[in-house]
Amino acid sequence: MSGDEEAPPEIHHYENRGEVPWDIQNYWCQRYDLFSKYDEGVWLTDDAWFGVTPEPVATKIAGHIARAAPSERKVLVDAFAGAGGNSIAFARSGHWKRVYAIEKDPVVLRCAQHNAKVYGVADKITWFLGDCFEIIKSQLKDLAPYSVLFASPPWGGPGYRGASVFDLRTMEPYSLNTLYTEFSLFTSYVVLYLPRTSDLNQLAKLVKDDQPAPVMHYCMRGASKALCVFYGGFQLQLS
Ligand SMILES: C[S@@+](CC[C@H](N)C(=O)[O-])C[C@H]1O[C@@H](n2cnc3c(N)ncnc32)[C@H](O)[C@@H]1O
Repeated sequence: MSGDEEAPPEIHHYENRGEVPWDIQNYWCQRYDLFSKYDEGVWLTDDAWFGVTPEPVATKIAGHIARAAPSERKVLVDAFAGAGGNSIAFARSGHWKRVYAIEKDPVVLRCAQHNAKVYGVADKITWFLGDCFEIIKSQLKDLAPYSVLFASPPWGGPGYRGASVFDLRTMEPYSLNTLYTEFSLFTSYVVLYLPRTSDLNQLAKLVKDDQPAPVMHYCMRGASKALCVFYGGFQLQLS
């Protein structure tokens, strides 16, 4: 394990397949895709495995947002930090004056903070424990003119895996409309990380007429993992 930090009982760093709960074993087999520094002591709760953005995807997204955001937008708010996959990639990009990362589960937040130390970027991220919708309104509102908001929400709801087209109105606990409405009150630059099968017509309905809203698929080994929709006039450069 990295450092001498003591992990609370809900946090694990599984080293052998035998100790990994059966429903996480597939994810554990892909642990170096999720965190290339896994062996340096990455922490996860058993639930957090399912939501982590794989590191190559998180790095790609971080590069795209950094290049596409207007130059006065130098603050990145990660609304659903989870175990830190995206927040760490944003901090590692070196582009942002500050990364603000919000997570409502205290144990998962401890994982993210620890993992940021493993990656050597803990000093670049300010962490908030609590509800992102509240924190954005109460503690981050002064940063709104300088901010880009990234959100990788939970994808719960009636079977996003099974659906050939995922109905974003049924995404739980936050529908596309809830996310877009809440976050657009804070900043006009909003990037949402969503299931690869998301209904593109539903995404298009939120597009302002005079602004394109590119959708980018992020792939690993030839398979789409997820998509991002970039609302707010980002100048997306493909490289
Ligand atoms: C899909 S995970 C994010 C994973 C993260 N991008 C990563 O790569 O590790 C979604 C996270 O959002 C958190 N969450 C859910 N609702 C929240 C809210 N209202 N405010 C802050 N965090 C929330 C959950 O606890 C969960 O950890």
